[in-house]
Amino acid sequence: MQKEADRLLKLPIYVFAQLDKLKAKEYAKGVDLIDLGMGNPDIPPPPEVIDSLVESLKNPENHRYPSFEGAPEFKQAVSDWCKKQYNINIDPEHEVVTLIGSKEGVVHFAFAYINPGDITLVPMPAYPAHFRGTILAGGDPYILPTTSHRGFMPDLKIIDPAIAQKAKMMILSYPTNPTASFATKEFFKEAVDFCKKYDIILVHDFAYAEIYFGDEKPISMLSIPGAKDICIEFHTTSKTFGMPGWRCGFAVGKRELIESLRKIKTNLDYGLFTAVQKAAITALQLGNGYIDNVRKTYEKRMHLFVDGMNSLGWNIEKTKGTMYVWLPVPSGFDSTEFCMYLLEKTGVVVSPGVAFGDLGEGYIRVAMVAPEARIIEAVDRIKKAGICFK
Ligand SMILES: Cc1ncc(COP(=O)(O)O)c(C=O)c1O
Repeated sequence: MQKEADRLLKLPIYVFAQLDKLKAKEYAKGVDLIDLGMGNPDIPPPPEVIDSLVESLKNPENHRYPSFEGAPEFKQAVSDWCKKQYNINIDPEHEVVTLIGSKEGVVHFAFAYINPGDITLVPMPAYPAHFRGTILAGGDPYILPTTSHRGFMPDLKIIDPAIAQKAKMMILSYPTNPTASFATKEFFKEAVDFCKKYDIILVHDFAYAEIYFGDEKPISMLSIPGAKDICIEFHTTSKTFGMPGWRCGFAVGKRELIESLRKIKTNLDYGLFTAVQKAAITALQLGNGYIDNVRKTYEKRMHLFVDGMNSLGWNIEKTKGTMYVWLPVPSGFDSTEFCMYLLEKTGVVVSPGVAFGDLGEGYIRVAMVAPEARIIEAVDRIKKAGICFK
């Protein structure tokens, strides 16, 4: 049997696999698991969007191969959405590409620019695709450590200029998975200046653009003056419209960066199913009622969970957005051990922080992807199992 390619062998261990095995074992025993592990939205898409998909499925034309970069109507709807939501101007013809989910786009974008040995700057803890994409492309992620003391924004001033000179790409993503932190406009301006100074491509993964709870609206990197010269921003309908299974996303930004991503994708896939594009247009053109409800739903769950865990000895702050709560594990456990322990004792599934890079060790991420009653029950089971933070 041949050995797998180096690009696969170089990937760090997939911690979720261990947990998945245990999850399957517990399911097989008939345990009623409360799965707060993956950030897998459980709020159904707007009914209008489902109707639109059903209607589109009836048209035989929509079952043919779609165009590689997206239907003109979809790209126009994306441009209108970006103007309406973030006040940014996107040329629908040259500055948009459809994606089969933003994860696909972020990972393939690395293939468009990263050669073996090239460096990507990645704040950590991070969504795994942000460093795994570069590894798969043969490059080396250079980790920018982040902590709660700086709001999980990396200190760009301490990056070794020799590393900055060599870096080809920086991947930022705010609001952040897994820490639910928001970036300030000052930090984004600093990031744009830094990337311009060192000729670095700035990638912004904006997956949680619409999942915010208060007056602080997440910032599009492209709204920062001058960002369009160096930046590509990734968006998804997965979180905003409860469509994770549909695999629908898009990237917008500098024309040459979009062109390169299109070039890679032309050689890999056939674009996004036209019926899904039509339904996504319906989603992008809906009023704000649905998204307001999504925000309220995640916010209520977060309050219940954080209050519940704080009554068990934790001291976690309320979050401003995303569907995640990031909390330290009690002493005596590492993050994977604590996840396993929680699963065995309570049937509650959460993610070990180490899955988001070494700097996530000592933490777990809990996704608010179950109805309120189940969130309350999860806390209750943890309490009954005698688990508390000390
Ligand atoms: C930061 C971030 N980017 C991208 C994704 C994947 O989104 P999509 O469903 O569009 O591939 C996720 C999913 O959890 C995420 O957290």
